[in-house]
Amino acid sequence: MSVAAQQQSDRTPLLAIRGVETFYGKIQALRSVDVDVYEGEIVTMIGANGAGKSTLMMTICGDPQARAGQILYRGEDITRLPTHDIMSKSIAQSPEGRRVFPRMTVMENLQMGAILEDEKDFDDDLRKVFDLFPRLKERRGQRGGTLSGGEQQMLAIGRALMSRPKLLLLDEPSLGLAPLIVKQIFEVIRELNRNEGLTVFLVEQNAFHALRLAHRGYVMVNGSVTMTGTGAELLARDEVRSAYLEGGAH
Ligand SMILES: Nc1ncnc2c1ncn2[C@@H]1O[C@H](COP(=O)(O)OP(=O)(O)O)[C@@H](O)[C@H]1O
Ligand SMILES: [Mg+2]
Repeated sequence: MSVAAQQQSDRTPLLAIRGVETFYGKIQALRSVDVDVYEGEIVTMIGANGAGKSTLMMTICGDPQARAGQILYRGEDITRLPTHDIMSKSIAQSPEGRRVFPRMTVMENLQMGAILEDEKDFDDDLRKVFDLFPRLKERRGQRGGTLSGGEQQMLAIGRALMSRPKLLLLDEPSLGLAPLIVKQIFEVIRELNRNEGLTVFLVEQNAFHALRLAHRGYVMVNGSVTMTGTGAELLARDEVRSAYLEGGAH
């Protein structure tokens, strides 16, 4: 074991997923999934369409709940908590397909993500989000549903950040976006991690960008984790290259 790996194993992960199994009725979508996310890391789960990535994200958020196994946040078992209790623990999620409120303006969408206790905090947080995504500032009066796909993704991430998370869960932020926009969004995630120490768990089909961004990654096939390693290690592996990167390294 390397020194870094040894140091990691001595620490409690921010998020630990242990032997998690999730079902839709009789259909098993996750099979004994183990994932650790340590504070300050960007960790990615890559996998093809239908592998179980979104199910894993949703299981972390308690809907659907895991039928077996455990999900620990800062060492606390959150497996059986209702979703709103999980989301009140400094965990924020940007779901697949972005799901911004289409009839609400950019500002109203961001307000929905905020914990409205202190107006001064709100103004500070809003300024931060607008600094990260200047486009959202320009469009602050525009309705969510009329934004481009990339702008909606920025809004979904911005809204998640308004709750001041320690752990940000991102479900396929690159889906359906032009390569240049994907690059911009991943660059913002990298900055948030570097400058604010935000911990990120990202699930992605876009293996190339996700593995380049992440410190560590996991590969999911049919609901099981089949490989794990640093982002660079996984990018270099033949199995990953042939299954996920063929012609996709843009
Ligand atoms: N609500 C649901 N009911 C039944 N099966 C589902 C449901 N959602 C997802 N599945 C199935 O679970 C598996 C994993 O899906 P999903 O987690 O969405 O994969 P991914 O996000 O990796 O594309 C797929 O076989 C999918 O058809
Ligand atoms: Mg999905």
